[in-house]
Parts: sequence; structure tokens; C-alpha cells
Amino acid sequence: MLNKKKKNIWRIPAGQEPTELDLRVMEAEKQGEIVPPRHLVKTPEQIEGIRRSGVVNTGVLDLVESQIRAGMSTAEIDRLVYDYTVSHGAIPAPLNYEGFPKSVCTSINEVVCHGIPSEYEFLEEGDIVNVDVSTILDGYFSDASRMFVIGKTTPRKQELVDVTLECLKAGAAAVKPWGHVGDIGRAIEPLARRHGFSVVRDLCGHGVGLEFHEDPEVDHYDTRRKGMLLVPGMVFTIEPMINMGVSDVFIDEEDGWTVVTEDELPSAQWEHTFLVTETGVEILTH
Ligand code: MF3
Ligand code: CO
Repeated sequence: MLNKKKKNIWRIPAGQEPTELDLRVMEAEKQGEIVPPRHLVKTPEQIEGIRRSGVVNTGVLDLVESQIRAGMSTAEIDRLVYDYTVSHGAIPAPLNYEGFPKSVCTSINEVVCHGIPSEYEFLEEGDIVNVDVSTILDGYFSDASRMFVIGKTTPRKQELVDVTLECLKAGAAAVKPWGHVGDIGRAIEPLARRHGFSVVRDLCGHGVGLEFHEDPEVDHYDTRRKGMLLVPGMVFTIEPMINMGVSDVFIDEEDGWTVVTEDELPSAQWEHTFLVTETGVEILTH
């Protein structure tokens, strides 16, 4: 019988002196914390790259915001996203990602996320729609989404949209250097519940920057665990999906992508890409 113990995750590259940050993480790991592998802590150069990617990503969302209206097809939104992104020297990250056929996700009403734009799907007065934009610039990824209300919607759907944005803000406010990933969902879930809404558990935020989806997984509900230590230089999304009814979802078996609420009641989502700094948190997709 051989002794078992946890292998160290945090490793110093050969020939480098441990920095103050290295020493702090290694001490935390010794205390039993779940620490990120060192490569999840971005270098200043990588952060600049992700920041520049975020500028294009924000430009896409601003363009969509200025154009979106009743009667427009979701395929038209897709064309706006593709043309703007490519003309700014970037690539829409969703296009061909694991076979996704379009440049953006458009998710209307009971669609939670990953809706596929279509020539035959038109926005109607009263719809609430999530447009989820992800950009690759010079190899760096950014990811953000907004809700749009088409004309005027019902008070309850408007409340869902507004509370979901508050959930994103509450999650972001819970991010502290040397805090934990679990703080985020613990801040979000009670806020959603107070309004009678539920938090989707089957989908999460994620590390982002050098790839589309990196560690850590960022749950938006209270997992009752601390989760991974938040180290300055980590970059990840917070993207709560909040449902008017039950939290359960299913994937449409026809297209293999579209995620829908089990009770087919509306769902909303807002998303930003965040950088953990030495003093707090910075939004890279403003
Ligand atoms: N943008 C989504 C996210 O927030 C990912 C979409 S994957 C796609 O993680 F292929 F559907 F685009
Ligand atoms: Co995301």
C-alpha cells in the first residue's frame, strides 16, 4: 500500500524565482485550498490581448443594440455580428465551434442559451432575447452577452431581465482576490430566489482568454463549497441564466444546441468577462 496525497497543482517554471504571488498560492495550497494551475493566471501581455479582444466584442454588442428591432430575423443579427467582427480583424468564436453553425447565439424567451440564428425566426414585440457574442482577436478570446427587450414586454418578463442583470452585478461584486469561485453563486442565488426566480444549474461560467472555455467552472447557484481560490490575473466569465419557473432545462434533440427551460417559461442571461486584480475585479467586456 502506497501513501496517497494530493499532487501540487501550482508549479514554478524551471529557472524562475518564486514571486510573492507564487509564495502566497503555494502557502494556500499547503493549507488545503483548491488552487488554479499557474497557466490560468494570465501574464500582463495576455491580459492586454484579452482586453483588446473585449473591445471588439463590446463593439459587436453595441452594434446589435443599435439595430435590433421587431421584425428582424435572428439570421440578420448573425450577419451583423459576422461582418463587424471580421472587418475588425477578428473571428466570431462560436462559428464552427464544436460544429456550431453560426457566429452568435440568439436565445428568445424560453430559450436559455445557445439558440441558433435562423432566416425563419423573427423578433416580435414583447420578446426578450439574449445575444451572446464571443470574439477571437490575435488568438485571445472574450465573451459577453446582453438581453434585449423588443418593444414593451410584460412586467414579469421585464423583472426577469432586470433581476438577471442584478444577479450578474452581485456575482461580480462577490469577486475578491484571494476569495473563492463559490462566493459568486452564493451571492447570486438568494437574489434570484427573492424574486421567485430560479438559477440554472446545468450550465456555468468559465475561464476564458487563451481558449473559449477554460477552468474554472463558475457556478451561479450556491454550491455550498468554497471552490477554487481566486488569484489576481485569472480571467473568467460570469453569465447567470435565471428562469421564471423551474431551473431544469433540456437540449433540443433536433439541432443538438438549443437549451430550453423544462416548463418552457422565459429565461434571461447577462454575461461579462472579468479579470481578478490585486484589489478587486475589472470588466474586460464593458
Ligand atoms: N458564448 C457561450 C458561452 O458563454 C458559448 C457558446 S458555444 C456556441 O459560453 F458554440 F454555442 F457558440
Ligand atoms: Co461564456
